Amino acid sequence: METLLNVPEGQFELQRLPQRKHEKLRAWDAADEYLLQYLSENCNLSSATRILIVNDSFGALAVALHRFNPVAISDSYLSRQATLLNFAANDLPEDCIQLRNSLDWPEQQLDLVLIKVPKTLALLEQQLIQLQPLLTAETKIIAAGMVKAMPASVWKLMERYLGPTKPSLAKKKARLIFISLNTQIAWSANPYPVYYQLENTGFRICNHANVFSRESLDIGTRFLLQHLPKNTNAKDIVDLGCGNGIVGLMLADYYRESHLYFVDESYMAVASAKETFRLAFDHRQADFCVTDGLTEFETESMDLIVCNPPFHQQNTVGNQIALSMFKQSQRVLRKGGELWVIGNRHLAYHIDLKKIFKEYNEIASNAKFVIWQVIK
Ligand SMILES: C[S@@+](CC[C@H](N)C(=O)[O-])C[C@H]1O[C@@H](n2cnc3c(N)ncnc32)[C@H](O)[C@@H]1O
Repeated sequence: METLLNVPEGQFELQRLPQRKHEKLRAWDAADEYLLQYLSENCNLSSATRILIVNDSFGALAVALHRFNPVAISDSYLSRQATLLNFAANDLPEDCIQLRNSLDWPEQQLDLVLIKVPKTLALLEQQLIQLQPLLTAETKIIAAGMVKAMPASVWKLMERYLGPTKPSLAKKKARLIFISLNTQIAWSANPYPVYYQLENTGFRICNHANVFSRESLDIGTRFLLQHLPKNTNAKDIVDLGCGNGIVGLMLADYYRESHLYFVDESYMAVASAKETFRLAFDHRQADFCVTDGLTEFETESMDLIVCNPPFHQQNTVGNQIALSMFKQSQRVLRKGGELWVIGNRHLAYHIDLKKIFKEYNEIASNAKFVIWQVIK
């Protein structure tokens, strides 16, 4: 796989995360290349230019623009780690970049804002709202993305919150959108997080903008909640890929004596889970971890792991992350510990589960979903 990004700013070695043996995908896309080429030809950047990069996938923009000390903001732990890894791989000092998470916005005004259009429209909306007070009539604002990832709804949001947009020509199926700030547009209040009441319970579920199924209970999650493990003696329980924390919340409700660990690679997900849990159990302790799966968990330290795995990372679809979560679970479970997984029937997770755990039990299924249990 091609790992050398060749742009007017220089040549840079770039890797994706998580690393995979036979990686077929590059750590950047044609929109990154287009944007970097545009900047070098049209913008006179200096280290005094206050640059904000939003949603850089694996650090391609941050690495290429490192000489200008940009600030980069992302909701993904893996993006953040990839950016650090790619800085190190190119012998760039980490103090060239200020990395922030999606709930920690800078406060100073900006000269240049570069937005990689995210998959989730609500995240884009929240980011545009957060940007409003940081912009002046002089700020240059450029959004970049693959044409197929920028439907009319994306343009409408930019016009609603910032001002008129102008498209570039498309190049290798990528496009830039130039946004001029309309200073007459009033700043909006951030509508996130949003809350909903979990059916048949008194629990309120907190959802930041980038959270899976933020407006209502997902049908797969509902099915999982109907079949959660009962009668276990599990002391240490992980909600792996916790999103808003709804699965861990219900497990905590059944198992009042157990300790819950909520894990997600999205900062907004973990913040949502933390708030969901706090609203439900004011004084109860739990752990909330923004990290890549179970990488930071000790071997044989958990009794029960429940997981509704992600089926895509940013724009890439596949079983890879689920597979890595199953392998990690095998390491992290105590002997006799259990992993419970829900998946779309067509994802056929039982094949990988059988390879790793030898046997599996089908706990429940309907036309769309299956729940499997494996025991270490
Ligand atoms: C299908 S959602 C499930 C959310 C929630 N548990 C539910 O059932 O409603 C999968 C979650 O996995 C998270 N995720 C993706 N990659 C991850 C990784 N490498 N480590 C931890 N969590 C990850 C996503 O951010 C997302 O919140």
